[in-house]
Amino acid sequence: MSRLRIFTEENCAEPLLSTEAPDEIEAELQQIGVRFEQWQAGKPVEAGDAPDIVLDAYRADIDRIVAEKGFRTVDVVSIAPDHPNREEMRRKFLDEHFHKEDEVRFFVDGSGLFTLHVGERVYEIRCEKGDLIGVPDSTLHWFDMGPEPRFVAIRFFTEPDGWVGHFTGSDLAQKFPRYEPGAAG
Ligand SMILES: [Fe+2]
Repeated sequence: MSRLRIFTEENCAEPLLSTEAPDEIEAELQQIGVRFEQWQAGKPVEAGDAPDIVLDAYRADIDRIVAEKGFRTVDVVSIAPDHPNREEMRRKFLDEHFHKEDEVRFFVDGSGLFTLHVGERVYEIRCEKGDLIGVPDSTLHWFDMGPEPRFVAIRFFTEPDGWVGHFTGSDLAQKFPRYEPGAAG
């Protein structure tokens, strides 16, 4: 299940709020300018399908987002648990950073953990199959794909060549839960 937990910066153990209700997740995130939607495939699609088939299955929603936000490139990325570079890939965005364009990802399959640092609050979002998240540019965040990453995601870019993480040097991310999909809770 998708899940949102909201923490204060000081307390990474006890969330102020924890919800698996999509409407509530969407409403809470909307208050900080973060988009959360759940999409249904318009055609059958499964992990391992060619990118064109994946994109075609979600064409209407993709076109809507592209028209609204002006994205210039849409691609599909797949990561399997036995990926030889999984540790390096996981480490890449584990610390607090921001981008100069929105980070918009749709989970066709699998899951991942986005954590956002907004004001004095920390928003942890477990994204699952069918979830779209749109993190606005300049929003501080980190992303954990877990030790055995497994996801297929559609990514939206304005300037793919300029897709760079600007790291803040904060150690906040290290204090908050990492993504351990097998663990309880
Ligand atoms: Fe990022």
